[in-house]
Amino acid sequence: MFVVSFLLAALVTLQSVVASPVNSRFDDTIKETHNVPPKWSKVGNPHPFHLLKINIGLRANNFDLLEQHLHQVSDPSHHRYGQHLTQQQVHELISPSDETTDLIEEWLSQNDIDPSHCQYNAARDWITLTLPVAQVERLLHTKYSVYQHQDGTKLVRTTQWSLPRSLHEHVTTIQPTTAFLRANPKGETVLTVPTEVDLDQLTAAANSSSLNRVCNFAGMTTACLRTLYNTVNYSVQASSKNQIGFTNYLGQVSSRSDARLYLRNFRPEAVNSSYAVNQVSVDNGPLDNATAEAGVEGNLDLETILGLVYPTPVTLYSTGGSPPFDPDLSTTSNTNEPYLTWVLYLREQDPNTVPKVISTSYGDDEQTVPELYAKTVCNQFAALGAQGISLFFSSGDYGVGDNDSCISNDGQNRITFLPAFPASCPYVTTVGGTRDYPEVVAYDAHNGYASGSGFSNYFTRPFWQATAVERYLDTIGDQFKGLYNTAGRAYPDLAAQSYRYLVFVNASVRSVDGTSCASPTVASIFSLVNDALAAKGKPPLGWLNPWLYQQGFAAFTDIVNGSSVGCNRAGFSAAEGWDAASGFGTPDFEKILDVLEIGTGSS
Ligand SMILES: *[C@@H]1O[C@H](CO)[C@@H](O)[C@H](O)[C@H]1NC(C)=O
Ligand SMILES: *[C@@H]1O[C@H](CO)[C@@H](O)[C@H](O)[C@H]1NC(C)=O
Ligand SMILES: *[C@@H]1O[C@H](CO)[C@@H](O)[C@H](O)[C@H]1NC(C)=O
Ligand SMILES: *[C@@H]1O[C@H](CO)[C@@H](O)[C@H](O)[C@H]1NC(C)=O
Ligand SMILES: *[C@@H]1O[C@H](CO)[C@@H](O)[C@H](O)[C@H]1NC(C)=O
Ligand SMILES: *[C@@H]1O[C@H](CO)[C@@H](O)[C@H](O)[C@H]1NC(C)=O
Ligand SMILES: *[C@@H]1O[C@H](CO)[C@@H](O)[C@H](O)[C@H]1NC(C)=O
Repeated sequence: MFVVSFLLAALVTLQSVVASPVNSRFDDTIKETHNVPPKWSKVGNPHPFHLLKINIGLRANNFDLLEQHLHQVSDPSHHRYGQHLTQQQVHELISPSDETTDLIEEWLSQNDIDPSHCQYNAARDWITLTLPVAQVERLLHTKYSVYQHQDGTKLVRTTQWSLPRSLHEHVTTIQPTTAFLRANPKGETVLTVPTEVDLDQLTAAANSSSLNRVCNFAGMTTACLRTLYNTVNYSVQASSKNQIGFTNYLGQVSSRSDARLYLRNFRPEAVNSSYAVNQVSVDNGPLDNATAEAGVEGNLDLETILGLVYPTPVTLYSTGGSPPFDPDLSTTSNTNEPYLTWVLYLREQDPNTVPKVISTSYGDDEQTVPELYAKTVCNQFAALGAQGISLFFSSGDYGVGDNDSCISNDGQNRITFLPAFPASCPYVTTVGGTRDYPEVVAYDAHNGYASGSGFSNYFTRPFWQATAVERYLDTIGDQFKGLYNTAGRAYPDLAAQSYRYLVFVNASVRSVDGTSCASPTVASIFSLVNDALAAKGKPPLGWLNPWLYQQGFAAFTDIVNGSSVGCNRAGFSAAEGWDAASGFGTPDFEKILDVLEIGTGSS
């Protein structure tokens, strides 16, 4: 009897599975809705055979544990500080459960998609599938359209998609769906200014040890930055064990011949390092060759970094996916989301080849980035942090928001400050901008550039910054009440010069403003710190923020004047201690070594 009833129960279960497949149309509920961001409009329908390269993110089995490990290995007061995870350990923590994988494959089969066509990454938490848009529409119960940005960029996207309810908790995000990323290179969005400085004079002053002689704040140079931030007397010791990286998007190319010219003027001993840069193309990102045209942003990053870190090796990652692109063709190219493409690529690389400090000078208004996408990408950054990689991002170039565009995108059209992503992700270190000496928060009346600042609407304030941020919020009281999320992750974390950097482009010199200047500068200084650590046999700093808010801040020069001008007002003011305009201020390399107790004894 017992055996028979057991069998019957099994049959009944089997039948009920067949009777209510996970993709039953009645089960489907909306997983995500996101409004079309400003400046985009619908211009038509894609060809039904237009191919989309779909990324399906599967819920990590144990992301909470990964986060816990990340906090421990990044907390200077924890006994595991610096004991970063191996790639294998990270993979184990972020792999999905078998149940998750089985459910997704069953759902795909029931939609006539052979699971053997799924490409999995090494940790099996991402599936990549190339499908005609009509089939994706059936799978996600949605309708894609062609959208065009005011600048001409076209994308095939939708504003809402659905999944069977039983799958919601197993899927983090599916893209491309709702993300309309057109990451602005921050150095390009601001005016480049004709330089008024005398190059010969600056080159001649480069050997002086006096700040007044080395620096001309109308034309920022390597020599000035090295003197100001105290790296000028440091000799790189571990260039065989340490390297630095930066990212290019949107078709930006870094010209090695321009970099050579820059170095000949401002760091002659480093002149040969320009052609030694390791160029990596991700998803057909363009690289410097005989014909590719140099970009201002790409050149700014390469020239700034080479000047500061020589002879540390430099790797640049150029990720494809840039306009122009004709969405009527059945093509798989140019439809990907750049940060996700890059971070998923990086997670697959041999960790020994990946730089431990990486700078990125791109970002978008957070509200134009779907929340699921932002959280998924931010979690991927956490996975890199757990392996000892420090990620630096620029904080944006419009203060608390571009004047006259500070309006919410949630249908309510409220006046609001506009935080930026990825600057708002807690797992990156966000860099604001200063100018002059003594330094003040950067603002340039010539082009409206103002150092970016804000409080996230997606990421709540992490505990490691609570004390510093709440102290600042107490000082400003009700100022700007209702315009920002007082409970959000606040940025920038720190700052550096960002005004009138000299850059060679097309063999002639010009100057640029922007936090695009500040991020590669701070990243370079921390790469030198990693060099000093490596020389002493110590691990790299990894995810910086817990160290910064607990101890590191003591090595920074507090910026107390100026504000993050934007949204037609003065924006957050600098103040003593951490503030929302300049974070903890600007780095002093020698003091950082002292805080880490690896001082060279020269200070
Ligand atoms: C700077 O110093 C270096 C090394 O002492 C020397 O070779 C170079 O000519 C000097 N440059 C200038 C512009 O004085
Ligand atoms: C670097 O060393 C030179 C020569 O010893 C000294 O004059 C200068 O003050 C030092 N610079 C810094 C920033 O410590
Ligand atoms: C750069 O390389 C050339 C050719 O190998 C060499 O002659 C020159 O000395 C190098 N310059 C420096 C500053 O190392
Ligand atoms: C150089 O790069 C550009 C931009 O990616 C590309 O279009 C061109 O085909 C490349 N040329 C050569 C010779 O590789
Ligand atoms: C900062 O502001 C104070 C008070 O207005 C002023 O005395 C000081 O000179 C300013 N410092 C800088 C670096 O501008
Ligand atoms: C934005 O508004 C502020 C305050 O009204 C003003 O000072 C600033 O110059 C404006 N910025 C631009 C780019 O017009
Ligand atoms: C560089 O020169 C090319 C060809 O003359 C031109 O099209 C391009 O706009 C120039 N780039 C910049 C950033 O000035």
